[in-house]
Amino acid sequence: MLEDLQELQKAAAEDIQHAENLTVLENLRVRYLGRKSQLRHIMGQIGHLPADQRPQLGQAAGRAQSAIQNALEARQQSLQKTIEADSQIDVTLPGRTPRRGALHPLSKLIDELSDVFRGMGFDLADGPEVEDEYHNFDALNTPADHPARDLHDTFYLRETGLLRTHTSTVQIRVMESQPPPVRIVSLGRCYRKETVDATHHFAFHQIEGLFVDRDVSFADLKGTIESMGKQLLGDDTRVRFRSHFFPFTEPSVEYDFSCSICNGEDMRCSICKGTGWIEIAGAGMVDPAVFTSIGYDPEQYSGFAFGMGLERMAMIRYGIDDVRLFLDNDLRFTRQFSTRG
Ligand code: PHE
Repeated sequence: MLEDLQELQKAAAEDIQHAENLTVLENLRVRYLGRKSQLRHIMGQIGHLPADQRPQLGQAAGRAQSAIQNALEARQQSLQKTIEADSQIDVTLPGRTPRRGALHPLSKLIDELSDVFRGMGFDLADGPEVEDEYHNFDALNTPADHPARDLHDTFYLRETGLLRTHTSTVQIRVMESQPPPVRIVSLGRCYRKETVDATHHFAFHQIEGLFVDRDVSFADLKGTIESMGKQLLGDDTRVRFRSHFFPFTEPSVEYDFSCSICNGEDMRCSICKGTGWIEIAGAGMVDPAVFTSIGYDPEQYSGFAFGMGLERMAMIRYGIDDVRLFLDNDLRFTRQFSTRG
């Protein structure tokens, strides 16, 4: 009987604790303390027990009764308090603003560039970040002993290959998968062995463009780059091409956009240092050796390719002065790019 009492007390405490309103609580009071309750039944039986057992059980039953009473009272008070609090809600208060997400500035730029190039008839292509040496170097006319590899030191993986150092890998992957004509851009993450500082990072993003068809000329390349510059930085943006070297393009250039911030008038301009030009990236006509190794006929087809670092463009577009911010994952940074500002 003692055990019955203990169990009863436990069950009652549990039920009372979970009673969600006063009606439920009243029903519990009837169930556990009412005339037909188990407790009353036990109390009724105590009189029939041998005299030496009566006091102990009588006391236990009394304790169970008051414990249940106390629990009922406490629960009643707390339910009543909530009811009062609810009725005190001030419906004239302004609502709580829901927290809004924001696109990362690089995602914004990627969306924008995709639109720019889709508008010029380019398809979007994608390629893996974990690459092999063939697609990252050899197929791009950069054999193992080529000095250009020095600038592209990267993270080598034990069996699977390496982390790609540029998006030019996608040129090869697309040409492998289809015959010409090709007109694609690819946007994605690249890696290099860099010491991290305000302008360098071991992880960064590039856009790659490739256009292969009959009679594609350097003029097409210039027109495409100029159109991108104007759409990104404004209609009066000018483009400058400087001759350069890349193993997989010939001739090769680096291209600069005129500085939209100071127009070359401010020596302290954080973007162009007063030179008037923003160095953006590389481009060129696809080297015939690349076509040959991929199985395209360089006598029939020509093409241009270009690349651009996205972090630098995003820094200019959004006034960001430290490349590390892009990867820090600090909400105080990304929040600044929400539509609400
Ligand atoms: N992949 C080159 C780089 O990252 C840039 C480039 C792309 C140059 C396409 C020419 C053509 O340095």
